[in-house]
Amino acid sequence: MTIRPILAAALVFGCTPAMGQTKDDADARAAATEAQMRQDERTVLTHGLWAIPLIPGVVIPPEAVTGAGYVSGIPRLGVPALFETDASLGVSYIAGLRGDGATALPSGMAMGATWNADLMRRGGAMIADEARAKGFNTLLGGGINLIRDPRNGRTFEYMGEDPLHSGLLGGAAVAGIQSRHVLATVKHFALNAQESGRHVVDSVIGDDAFRMSDLLAFQIAIEEGRPGAVMCAYNRVNGAQACGSNYLLNQVLKRDWRYPGFVMSDWGAVRATDFALAGLDQQSGAQIDKGRWLAAPLAAAAARDPAYAARVRDMNRRILRSIYAVGLDRNPPVKAPIDFAANAAVARAVADEAIVLLRNQNALLPLSKSVKSIAIIGGHADAGVLSGGGSTQVEAVGGPAVSIPMGGEGPLAKYNNQTYAPSSPMAAIRALAPSASVTYRDGRYLTDAVAAARTAEIAIVFATQWMREGADVPDLSLPEGQDALIAAVAAANPRTIVVLETGGPVLMPWLERTPAVVEAWYPGIRGGEAIAGVLFGDTNPSGRLPVSFPASTADLPRPELPYAGDSDAAFAKADAAGQRFPIDYDIEGADVGYRWHARTGRAPLYAFGHGLSYTSFDHSAPAVTAGTKPRARLTVRNTGTRAGRDVPQLYLVSTPGGTTRRLAGFAQAMLQPGEARTLDIAIEPRILADRRDGAWVLRGGRYGFAVGRSASDLGPVTYVTLRERRWN
Ligand code: BGC
Repeated sequence: MTIRPILAAALVFGCTPAMGQTKDDADARAAATEAQMRQDERTVLTHGLWAIPLIPGVVIPPEAVTGAGYVSGIPRLGVPALFETDASLGVSYIAGLRGDGATALPSGMAMGATWNADLMRRGGAMIADEARAKGFNTLLGGGINLIRDPRNGRTFEYMGEDPLHSGLLGGAAVAGIQSRHVLATVKHFALNAQESGRHVVDSVIGDDAFRMSDLLAFQIAIEEGRPGAVMCAYNRVNGAQACGSNYLLNQVLKRDWRYPGFVMSDWGAVRATDFALAGLDQQSGAQIDKGRWLAAPLAAAAARDPAYAARVRDMNRRILRSIYAVGLDRNPPVKAPIDFAANAAVARAVADEAIVLLRNQNALLPLSKSVKSIAIIGGHADAGVLSGGGSTQVEAVGGPAVSIPMGGEGPLAKYNNQTYAPSSPMAAIRALAPSASVTYRDGRYLTDAVAAARTAEIAIVFATQWMREGADVPDLSLPEGQDALIAAVAAANPRTIVVLETGGPVLMPWLERTPAVVEAWYPGIRGGEAIAGVLFGDTNPSGRLPVSFPASTADLPRPELPYAGDSDAAFAKADAAGQRFPIDYDIEGADVGYRWHARTGRAPLYAFGHGLSYTSFDHSAPAVTAGTKPRARLTVRNTGTRAGRDVPQLYLVSTPGGTTRRLAGFAQAMLQPGEARTLDIAIEPRILADRRDGAWVLRGGRYGFAVGRSASDLGPVTYVTLRERRWN
C-alpha cells in the first residue's frame, strides 16, 4: 500500500467525467462567460451574504438556504448561486435555525489521529452528499491550520501539527467533497494559530520557515485536493491582514503555486476595497464587515482604474473556473431525504480509527465482557459524547443529548452551548457487557464518585475539555476539578480507566496513578459505541497522536498564551487606537510541535505519532532508494495474537546540515496475527529540503531515515546519499 493513493486519484480527478470538466474546458468556459458579463453583473460573484437571519435589517433572498453564506448567481448566463455551509465536521448546525439535523463526524483532531487519507475522502464525500441533499453546493472546509499552540480554541477543528500529515489528510477531505460536485475550501490561510485577538494579532514569521511549515500544509493540500477556493484568515501576517496580504495571496498562492481557484474571505475579515488588489476574489458574509467593499465600491474603482478593472475580470474568471471545474452548474443540489444510518457508519469508521490508546499498564484493557461491575463517572457519559463549539458545530437529528448554556453576549450568545451528541457510552458499554452491573455518577461530588468506584470491579472516568471557536482555553488542565476527581477515583480503585474527550492535548497530573488512558477526542455521532468497542476489544485501537502532548505549558514555544483574556471589543478598540499585537512565530519557525520538542530536548508527555495497540508490530529497517522521488520500503509484521492496524511513520533524522526530526512519509496496514506486509512509502522531497533564497534547496550528501512508532520512539537509522538539487 502506498501513502499517496489520493494523488493518483487527484491527477485523474481534474480531467474525468466525474469532475464534469477538463481543466482547459473550465478555463475556456470561464473566459467566455466573463466576456459576456454586463457591467452590472461584474460584482455579483465578488461578494456574498451571511445567510443567517439574525442581524436586524439584513434581508436574505428567499432563494438562499439558511447557512453560513450565499452568493447570488447570474441566471442570464447560467451561473449558479453559491449556497455555502460550514462543513469540516459535518453539515453544521447554524444555531439550529435551519431546523434539521446532520451527521456529526469526529473532530478534525480525531480525523488527524486516523492518519488515513482514504477515510478522509469517504468522510468528505459523505458530508458533501448531505450538503447537496440540504440544498448546498459549497462547503467551508476543511481547516488545516497547524497546531502551534494547543490552547488554541479551534485545535479540535484542525488535523495536527505536521505539514505533510495535515496537507495529505486535508487534501483528501477536499478531494472527497469535490468528487460529489460540491466546491470545497481549505482554510484559514494562514497562520491563524490562536483565537485570542484573532482579528488583530499579527503572526510574524520569516518566509523560509513559513514555507516549510504552515504554508507547506496548504501547498500540499491544494495539490492533493484542488479546492475550488482558499479561505483567507482573520489575523494579520507579517503586518498585513491575511485577506489583504499581497505576499500571501498574490505572491505565494497565485504566483508561486499557480493556484487557479479563488480566494474567499473569512466572515468579517475584509477591511477595504483594495484587498482585491492584494489578491482577494470574494468578500464573504459582507454585512458583517464595515462595508460591502467588493460590491458597489469595487465597481466604482473598476470604472476609474484599469488595475481594478483587470482585477475584476480575473476575480470573475477564477470564481467561474472553480464553478465549472467542480461541475456546480451541471449538477445542482437537489433536496432529498438522507440515509442517516448509512452516514453514521462513516462517522463510526472514522471514530474507530481515531481513538488513541495512550496508556495500558498490565494490559488492563481490553476489558472482559464478563466483568461484574463497572462504575462510570462523569463526562455526561450516561447521555452522549462532547462536541466542539462554533461554526463547525453539527447538531444531530432530534437534537443534542445534553446542551449546557455557556453564556456570553450578543445575538449569538444563546447559541453558545456545550453540546453532547446523542451516543451514550454507558448504553454502549451495557450492550457489550450485558451481565455487568453498570452504574453512573455525574462526578460532581468526590465522596459520591469515590464510593461508587470503591465497590466496583472497574471504574471508568470520562473527562472532558470543551473547546470552541472564538475563545482559547487558558491552560491545558482539565476544567471543573476533573483532575482531582480522577486522582480520587484512582486512589479508590486501582483498576481505573480514564477516557478523555478533549479538543486536543491536556496535562495529566494523575497519570502515574491510572493504569489505562484512552483519548477519544470529540468522537462524533457514534462516539459512544466506538469508545465501548475499544474498551472491550471489539476494536483494536489504532489511532496515533497527530499532535504532541506537552508535559507542561512551560515547554511550549510561548509558555504564556499571547494576549490571552481580552474581549473582542477591547481588542478592536486598542487596534483602532493604533496598538499592534505581534506574535513571534520565529521562536520555533518551522520546528512546530514534535520538532520543537526534538530541538529543545524537552520530552513530551506523549509524543506525536504515539498510540498503543492490543497486538504488537515489528518493523524492518527502511530501505531507501535515492533519486528525485525517493521512496522507502519496509516490512511490518503483526507479532501478536489479534488483528490490528499499524501506522508506521518514516522520519528524517539527519541531513548533511545536522540532526533533525521531520515526518517524511507514513503508511498504514491492517494485519492478521502473524501476517507481514511490505509497504512502499513515497518520501516528500520538500521535507528533505530547506528553503533558501526563495527556493527549495536539497544539499548533496547523506540523509538518515528511521521508522518510528512515534516521533520519539525510532528504530535503526538507514542512510542514503542524495544529489544536490534546487527547485522553486
Ligand atoms: C469562521 C470560518 C467559517 C465562517 C462561516 C468564521 O467565523 O472563522 O471558519 O467558515 O465563520 O461560518
